[in-house]
Amino acid sequence: MTPAARLQAVARQAGLGNEAIDSLSAAAEGQIELADRLVENAISAMAIPVGVATNMIVDGREVLVPMATEESSVVAAVCNAAKRCRGTGGFFTSGSGPVMAAQIQLLGVSDPENVRLKVYERFEEIRTICDETDPLLVKFGGGFRDLEVRVIETDEGSMTIVHIIVDTRDAMGANAVNSMAEALAPKLAEWTGARTLLRILTNLADRRVVRARAVWPLGEIGGVQVRDDMLSAYRFADADPYRAATHNKGIMNGVSAVVLATGNDTRAIEAGAHAFAARTGRYRSMSRWEKDAEGNLVGILEMPMAVGLIGGATKVHPTAQANLKLLGVQTADALARVIVAIGLAQNFAAMRALATTGIQKGHMALHAQNVALMVGAVGDEIDLVASELKVLGKVRQDLAEDILKRIRGGQ
Ligand code: MEV
Repeated sequence: MTPAARLQAVARQAGLGNEAIDSLSAAAEGQIELADRLVENAISAMAIPVGVATNMIVDGREVLVPMATEESSVVAAVCNAAKRCRGTGGFFTSGSGPVMAAQIQLLGVSDPENVRLKVYERFEEIRTICDETDPLLVKFGGGFRDLEVRVIETDEGSMTIVHIIVDTRDAMGANAVNSMAEALAPKLAEWTGARTLLRILTNLADRRVVRARAVWPLGEIGGVQVRDDMLSAYRFADADPYRAATHNKGIMNGVSAVVLATGNDTRAIEAGAHAFAARTGRYRSMSRWEKDAEGNLVGILEMPMAVGLIGGATKVHPTAQANLKLLGVQTADALARVIVAIGLAQNFAAMRALATTGIQKGHMALHAQNVALMVGAVGDEIDLVASELKVLGKVRQDLAEDILKRIRGGQ
């Protein structure tokens, strides 16, 4: 079926009215061909707002950062946090390089430790098989780098797990390492007598860790009490998984927005980030906060960041391409560094808001507009309803309905 015919068929089966059909086809305008190539059974496309974070200095470079998000205040929060650390040079980053790993599961042996060593003995053959699977990657300076073989305990006994460690250069690397793992598995079975089962990358990309740090001067924070309250907020998150989940969600508000804007895989990044946050056996804050000798607030964010510039939606989605141009990054590593800096800025803004006025105040201006839209306001009505809600200091749907009714009734 063509996407248009598919939409009609779906509408018939689901009993969609003309209004729903029209909005699905309007949303797809200019996008449907690409959508149809990217996913199966495409019937429409969904636009997410792209806002630009300003004031960001990353490693001495001014950078405009496109953020794709539906959440109010996320972009404004970054702009604000970034402005407050410009005087100390903005964000400083480092990275461990674009190194990914794939896992191959070996089963059915009574001597998993023996198998572990047998695999290590094949290091050079493993290198050859992996590199031959992706000669282009090798040409660009990437390829097989290392081998790690572990024995893990499971409910059905010990298993030997082989990790192939690969430099994936400017690719996110999933396709590269998955192909290598699949090519290697039959050989591992032949060498060890084990049965190979899963062959897939790990999203816990703990060899592809990117770090960002920044210093916020006391004067930019609001004084000693605010700084100390922010530190208490951080310690709360680091000690309590209930708080850590929300604290880290705030970081991911920034991270995922840039990941999405550049056509990268948000789920891969989210999975890796949360697994990394739990690497000590307890789910903790992804960021760390402390005060320096002058009493300024120092923020640190360190997390896996497996993003690419080539492959996947990044290469084929024109919006992702345009967003990458806007960012002005030439390598996946440079992109990853900007993303982690944005995560840190987001975390600063959320902690400062929470430690002072609370989160709702800043949220309300944009949220009031959302609520106005929700109750059906159009055109000028949106601003009228939103500003009345703000004056009331209560952004509630029932109040918005009353205001809209009154405006429409000309009262
Ligand atoms: C809301 O999307 C994000 C926050 O909840 C983050 C946090 O609590 O730190 C404000």
